[in-house]
Amino acid sequence: MCGIVGILGQQDVSSQLVATLRRLEYRGYDSAGIATVQHGALDRRRAQGKLTNLEALLSTSPLEGRAGIGHTRWATHGAPSERNAHPHMTERVSVVHNGIIENYRELRAEFTALGCKFTSDTDTEVIVHLVSYQLDQGMAPIEAVAHALKRLRGAFALGMLFKGEDNLMIAARRGSPLAIGHNAGEMYFGSDAIALAPYTDTITYLEDGDWAVLTRSSIEIFNEDGVKVERKSQKSNISAQHIEKGNHRHYMSKEIAEQPEVISRTLANYVDLNAGRVRLERLPANLDTITRITISACGTAHYAGQVAKYWFEQYARLPVEIDVASEFRYREVPLEKNGLALFISQSGETADTLACLRYCKQQGQRIAAVVNVPSSTIARESDDILPTYAGPEIGVASTKAFTCQLAVLAALAIGAGRARGVIDADRERELIVALAELPRHISTHIQQSGSAYEKIGSNLASARDVLYLGRGITYPIAMEGALKLKEISYIHAEGYAAGELKHGPIALIDKNVPVIILAPDDNLYDKTVSNLQEVAARGGRIILISDAPANRVGCEPEAVISLPKVHPFTSPVMYAVPMQLIAYHTAVAIGTDVDQPRNLAKSVTVE
Ligand code: G6P
Repeated sequence: MCGIVGILGQQDVSSQLVATLRRLEYRGYDSAGIATVQHGALDRRRAQGKLTNLEALLSTSPLEGRAGIGHTRWATHGAPSERNAHPHMTERVSVVHNGIIENYRELRAEFTALGCKFTSDTDTEVIVHLVSYQLDQGMAPIEAVAHALKRLRGAFALGMLFKGEDNLMIAARRGSPLAIGHNAGEMYFGSDAIALAPYTDTITYLEDGDWAVLTRSSIEIFNEDGVKVERKSQKSNISAQHIEKGNHRHYMSKEIAEQPEVISRTLANYVDLNAGRVRLERLPANLDTITRITISACGTAHYAGQVAKYWFEQYARLPVEIDVASEFRYREVPLEKNGLALFISQSGETADTLACLRYCKQQGQRIAAVVNVPSSTIARESDDILPTYAGPEIGVASTKAFTCQLAVLAALAIGAGRARGVIDADRERELIVALAELPRHISTHIQQSGSAYEKIGSNLASARDVLYLGRGITYPIAMEGALKLKEISYIHAEGYAAGELKHGPIALIDKNVPVIILAPDDNLYDKTVSNLQEVAARGGRIILISDAPANRVGCEPEAVISLPKVHPFTSPVMYAVPMQLIAYHTAVAIGTDVDQPRNLAKSVTVE
């Protein structure tokens, strides 16, 4: 989704603005722009497409000025074009905006009637005319913004720059997150602290409804009632190194490779590996008395929840209801007392997931959230925060955040099993040992199997459709595998329950359709192999992923990925890794933009 930045610097800021926007690229965008105060007047440069286009424009048509704002736009209202790119401006004010102004139609009609000329199809432009109009009436910038904010409905983060004001930016937050960064004699704002990491680690997060008046040496924050408030600054632990690719070609491959380390770090926070026990004090307190868990999440995080459903049911005998957040939020689900509502989100900002959280809160549920960003809105609105320690995830396709979510959910399921007397201490230790072994197995597998994945990737690159089959707890992993492939290679893929093959998808199978079969060596192995044979009998191309010897399947697959033997409890985490590597190497073979696939956004802050 859109990213916004602002800088009050000591020198010309245009190249710094572009560098800062580059660190927001991961959120997904289709046009970009910057504006500065140049010799007292506002001016801007905007370009459709990637930041390289904006840079090319700036090299032929530079922008001076020590005060500037910038934007990466993920189109919602109006096509991705230069005229719709931000910043939007009049002669008096320039605005960057992330979010949606819900009442833009009525405001647009009102200001059109007043004679304002609109030059874009965006909802954002109404803000420009709203503020400009107040400035025309003689109001000072602060007064004009305070007035304008009262008229806006919707969820947004805003940044503004004013004519003749080389030492002033105003930033506002309602819904979408906003971080203010400060340094001696310089002031920044950004959609997240990642954007600001190279320049400052001193961050003040605005709270919902806040707006801030920024100069090079001061921050004044007001709440939504216009009352001046204090917000504590904090040291961000995101270092520049966290957001570099290192010697990896893509962030995605770096993030896949980081998994052994970040899963270990995450596990260490939830389990005592020496004692073989879950740290119950890190988990919601009422695990023994809850009667049901209700999970909602989107995309990859939803598949983490699907895996967790199997774990909670099997190891804690807890009934689980799970749905994608965009459906759950409108279903008016009746929720019984003593329920735990669990939300899973890498960013902690996904609009649909947040809406479900608020619904469940109203219904009297205890709210727990598995999040990767502890300062996020979902974390702040939860009773129990269960952080993942994946570090910043830059690749749009989620990898390490997913396996860390699984690590937390596994610990939570064991904790619930113990709290409810479903598993004894020996069983708890057995499961924890299985979890503890995962990082080593994942690390060995990643190191040893690169060339096998390259080969599979180049074979899949020409496929039109790919089927993924899994059974039991690897069924959600099959769906996640199909999602990964779709997201970054643009090949159509479906994840199916292996047992459902004969109820439809088998009609698709011919010699052109690769079928990726996940066959963990567990109690369902033989059944999955029967489905594999059904594919083989129809000439389908089989790619087998298994920790059982390949010669047990009774036919010759096109390719085999042999995984280390893991406990059935942890197989979803282990099997997630080949899903990532297959998608990654296929996308590389095709030559797509792996880290920023077309049309996708990392953090989906609109419905
Ligand atoms: C987007 C991202 C996915 C992510 C989903 C949920 O679709 O592209 O990678 O799984 O949002 O995001 P969240 O931040 O809530 O986990």
